[in-house]
Amino acid sequence: MALVNENFLKLKAGYLFPEIGRRVSKYAAENPDAKIIRLGIGDVTEPLPAAVTEAMHKAVDEMATRASFRGYGPEQGYDFLRNAIAQNDFQSRGCNVSADEIFVSDGSKCDSGNILEIFGNDNVVAVTDPVYPVYVDTNVMAGRTGDADAAGRYAGLVYLPVTAENGFVPALPDRHVDLIYLCYPNNPTGTVATRETLQKWVDYARAEKAIIFFDAAYEAFITEPGVPHSIYEIEGAREVAIEFRSFSKTAGFTGTRCAFTVVPKGLKATTASGEAVELHGLWNRRQSTKFNGVPYVIQRGAEAVYSDAGKEQVRQLVSFYLENAAILSQGLRDAGLTVYGGVNAPYVWLKTPGNSTSWEFFDRLLSTAHLVGTPGSGFGASGEGYFRLSAFNSRANVEEAVRRIHTVLK
Ligand code: MLT
Repeated sequence: MALVNENFLKLKAGYLFPEIGRRVSKYAAENPDAKIIRLGIGDVTEPLPAAVTEAMHKAVDEMATRASFRGYGPEQGYDFLRNAIAQNDFQSRGCNVSADEIFVSDGSKCDSGNILEIFGNDNVVAVTDPVYPVYVDTNVMAGRTGDADAAGRYAGLVYLPVTAENGFVPALPDRHVDLIYLCYPNNPTGTVATRETLQKWVDYARAEKAIIFFDAAYEAFITEPGVPHSIYEIEGAREVAIEFRSFSKTAGFTGTRCAFTVVPKGLKATTASGEAVELHGLWNRRQSTKFNGVPYVIQRGAEAVYSDAGKEQVRQLVSFYLENAAILSQGLRDAGLTVYGGVNAPYVWLKTPGNSTSWEFFDRLLSTAHLVGTPGSGFGASGEGYFRLSAFNSRANVEEAVRRIHTVLK
C-alpha cells in the first residue's frame, strides 16, 4: 500500500484564495444578478506593458525560424535577463549582487516554497502573524511543524505578531530561530520596514547564524524615500539573506509567470556536524535537477521591463494601482474605518467595524455589497479582526467598491 505524506493532512481546510474563490462562486451561482467586484486575491487587471508584448512578439518570431530557434535554456535564466536584473534592481541601488547570483524562475510563490528543500527539517522557523500563507503551508507540508491549534497556529512554528498595537513591526524572537520569513512591502498589511528595522533583523540573523527569506515581491510599490527596496541595502545582509522578487505585480506577469531569487555566493548554512555549506551551490543543484527554466519568450518580455520604454510603462502601471489604493484608503476612512497600508503597497488593511470577525465582515460585504476581500484571519490568528482589500482592479470598480462600502456601513 502506498503511503501518503501525512503532513498534508495537518493543513487547515483549503489554501486561502481557492477557498475564497469557492465561496464566491457559490454565492454567484445562487445570486446570478449580483455584480460582484473582486478585491480579494492580488491579481492584476491591467494588460502587460507595450514594451513587454513587443519584445514577446519579436521573440515568438525568433522561435519560428531554425536559425534563431531556441530549445532548452539555462535552468538559471538567460544571461540577458540576469544581467538586466543585476544592473537595474541591485547595482543601481548600490547593492553588491551579481548576475550569477540571480536565479530566474516562474514565481516567488514556487521559489519561497521550494527553497525549503535545501534546508534541514530540524530548523526552527519564524513567521510574522498575519503572513502570506504559503510560508506556513509549505513548512507544514515539509514536516517542519506539529498540528494546528484552534486558532490555526501550528506547533513548532514561532509566530511574531504584527498588529496595530506594535505598529506592524515584528519583535525579534525571544528564542533562537534558524529560518525567518520577512515580506516587505508587506503582504497582507501593506506596511513597510525601515532601514533600522531591517538592520536589527540582519544583526539578529548574523548573531544566531540564521537565514532570512526576504520576499520583496511588492518592491516596485515603494513610494516613500528612504524605505529599503532590497535586503541587500542593509549591511551584512549578504551573509544571511535570500531575496525573492517577482514581475507579477510589478509588470502584470501574474498569468505570464516570471520571477527570480537571489542567493548570494558565500551565503552558508551548516551540516548537523557543523560543516559550512554554500547555499548557492545547493540551490543551483536543486534548480538544475527539477526545473528547466522560464520560456525564452517570457524572459525576453521580462528583459523589456528594464528598457527605457518598459521602465516608464511599469511606472505608470504601478502608479495606477497605487492611486486605486489611495482611493480605497480615503473612501474607507470617510466611511469611518481604520485603515493601514496602501501607500507603499497595493494592499489596504483595515480594522473590521463593530468588532466583527474577519469572516463575518467577508460575508457581510459579499452579501450586501457584492464585494470580495480577504479575511485577515486567513493570514493568521493575529489577522483576526482585520480585512484586506486589493487595489488591483479597474478604476471604475474601485470607485464603485467605495460607494458600496459607504452604503453598507451607513
Ligand atoms: C495575494 O493576494 O496575496 C497574492 O496574490 C498571492 C500570490 O501572489 O500568490
